[in-house]
Amino acid sequence: METHEAEANQVVVLGTGGTIAGTAADPGDNVGYQAAQLGVAQLVSAVPALAAVSLACEQVAQLDSKDMDFATWRQLAIRVAAHLAREDVAGVVITHGTDTLEETAYFLQRVLAPKKPVILTAAMRPATALQTDGPQNLLDAVAVAQDPQASGVLVVFAGVIHAAEQVRKAHSYRVDAFVSSDGARLGLVEEGQVRWVQGLGQARPGVGLEVLPTAAKDWPRVEILLNHVASDGRLVRALLAQSTDDKPGGLVVAGTGNGSLSQDLEAALREAQAQGVRVLRSTRCDAGPVTASADALPSAGALSPVKARVELILQLLNESKS
Ligand code: SIN
Repeated sequence: METHEAEANQVVVLGTGGTIAGTAADPGDNVGYQAAQLGVAQLVSAVPALAAVSLACEQVAQLDSKDMDFATWRQLAIRVAAHLAREDVAGVVITHGTDTLEETAYFLQRVLAPKKPVILTAAMRPATALQTDGPQNLLDAVAVAQDPQASGVLVVFAGVIHAAEQVRKAHSYRVDAFVSSDGARLGLVEEGQVRWVQGLGQARPGVGLEVLPTAAKDWPRVEILLNHVASDGRLVRALLAQSTDDKPGGLVVAGTGNGSLSQDLEAALREAQAQGVRVLRSTRCDAGPVTASADALPSAGALSPVKARVELILQLLNESKS
């Protein structure tokens, strides 16, 4: 059971790899590096100001986040929950790769819906770069983890605090790579001071750790498809033709604009639905919701396609448990 004691002051930093833990042979090389090389304790010790904070470190994984997997997600959720349950812990910081950070953030929020803060941070430049962004991001993340108003899963990156539901990696190279659509960023971190610019909102209850299967093969298969010029639905039908074990339990479609679909793609998705495959309609636009409508396929609301996939995986797991 997560507690929220006044004397809680320790921040636990969980390492999972990423560019923040990456190294390059040449300090001037911002792209030719190996992600996930340094341990989380090394990342913390590279930030002198963190010596003044009560910190504990744990290495949960060491990977490039393009290879993030269900087993690591489950282990991470278990470790976060275990630390949050400790009375002396104020919050948890997770160092992560930028590439799938938004998926892990949404996953943790929907599984745990924590009251204490869980802050994901990362870097666009390896730890060896001339101007590495990791140490400042880590310092800012710890500041937010200690802030009494912070709650739930947040992303702290380039001085901005984002909500797990809204944040997206929007740039492949720049150090301010993350955005929250519709002006939804929550706050800023300026010289260690947290400045909230809007409320945190009401979190939905988490689905809980119990729904997460131990074996990766027991997680439902949910694929993402895209509407584009001349989308003919053949990919959907190819997925439906798979053997029972390989057939997806769900499909997320990134529609055009307000989730619109070509007639052929929509027909194929309705066939999938008729066969018991769950379908969610998102948008390939960078921002904005898909408005729900009674005669259209179900909307994913304002979730991006990758987060709609996380949502559908968790819904399917939750339903199979009940
Ligand atoms: C990764 O996502 O692990 C590598 C890329 C990055 O962290 O920027």
